[in-house]
Amino acid sequence: MTALGTPRLHLRVTTSTNDRARELAQAGAPHGTLLTATEQTAGRGRQGRTWTAPAGRALLMSIVLRETPALLPLAAALAVAEVAGGDARIKWPNDVLVDERKVAGILAEARVQEGWAVVGIGLNVALRVEDLPAELHATAGTLGLSPADVEPTLQRLLGALERALALDDAALLDAYRARDGLRGREVRWAGGRGRAAGIDGAGRLVVELPKGGRTALNAGEVHLER
Ligand code: BTN
Repeated sequence: MTALGTPRLHLRVTTSTNDRARELAQAGAPHGTLLTATEQTAGRGRQGRTWTAPAGRALLMSIVLRETPALLPLAAALAVAEVAGGDARIKWPNDVLVDERKVAGILAEARVQEGWAVVGIGLNVALRVEDLPAELHATAGTLGLSPADVEPTLQRLLGALERALALDDAALLDAYRARDGLRGREVRWAGGRGRAAGIDGAGRLVVELPKGGRTALNAGEVHLER
């Protein structure tokens, strides 16, 4: 596989870099093709949410991959956490937190039958939390760098992504577990609540249930109780 980030298309403004990258993937773009934007007008998040970032202050990127490993969302989270710093933690499956605040979100979309995946990453490199909509002020975070750091951060992230994608599943999961921000904490999700007990060999979140027993979540969203 070739290096990530080539070819690269940078757009000053677009609706969503994931949408552009999906179009390129469907048109046959090679592994590693990179889409970046200074600004998105319709950035998309997981679970049908929107993703907001002031122009020029966040890394907004999507990368086309011609492989779709099952643990891709976790590999991307590990790479972003590495770039976000030693204190960064991952909230399963792939929110990256610093000081309990979300500094990055990842939207991985794949068409296994068509042989492509798109990994979209929004990383709040130089964002000022007060510039975000008020409803995000309590939860959003930032790396606190300057707009000039967005491009160097992208270059570091491409390297981290390559390294994470080269790991075998066991090594990837070990590194991910070292950043697990949920372990031991009370969580709830659409189907219940319990205490997070780590990540299993398939990348699922294991939860100890209040009445005993365990379950493993393989998709969706969990919320921290406290
Ligand atoms: C989430 O946490 O809900 C995922 C957010 C993903 C946002 C990034 S920004 C770049 C790329 N383009 C998009 O429309 N979404 C992803």
